[in-house]
Amino acid sequence: MQLLPLLAWALLPGCGAVTGPRTVRGVLGGSLSVTCKYPPGWENFPKFWCIPSTTIVYTCAWDIVITSESQPEVVKGRFSIRDNRTHRAFTVTVDGLSKEDAGTFRCGVRTGTFSRDESAAVKVVPPISTVTPTSRDWEQTAGGGFTPNVTGTRGPDAPQGIRGAFRYFPVLAGLQLLALLAMSAAVLWVSVRGR
Ligand SMILES: *[C@@H]1O[C@H](CO)[C@@H](O)[C@H](O)[C@H]1NC(C)=O
Repeated sequence: MQLLPLLAWALLPGCGAVTGPRTVRGVLGGSLSVTCKYPPGWENFPKFWCIPSTTIVYTCAWDIVITSESQPEVVKGRFSIRDNRTHRAFTVTVDGLSKEDAGTFRCGVRTGTFSRDESAAVKVVPPISTVTPTSRDWEQTAGGGFTPNVTGTRGPDAPQGIRGAFRYFPVLAGLQLLALLAMSAAVLWVSVRGR
């Protein structure tokens, strides 16, 4: 029966159940806000902002800040999360932005012990040093749109495409497991019948 949690782990994650901006950029010393949305039924689950694991895709190495059922709003140093359960969206805020805050993070929902986290990758690009007339305190590009930035790089579009394909990896692994079970059952059935 050890297989059940494994199957659940492989099959349960919905495809992109949690959505967030792919890229965010703030202003040095200012604050950054990232809003991530989740589906109905997950209102009371913990919401987190974490450092991704480098070995297992879609998982966290550790949580920077996480809410709980009784605490939908949590402040931890420069970081905070406010979970709006009526809107099914939580906002992560990082105050006092510095260049060290750049990197890839995940915003997500901890849906249970045996099911995997559902989360979305958010790339925080290095903060710009001055407020331009078009950008206010923070800027958010949703749906993969990418505004030209100070580093002049192409942005996360290309790697996102590759990661997008791997998004279905757990589902494929689950299907392979099911196929394997079906084949074992067939082999067993044939050998029993052959007696
Ligand atoms: C959730 O968001 C809505 C719309 O922005 C707002 O009216 C409501 O007060 C918010 N709820 C909480 C708990 O912040």
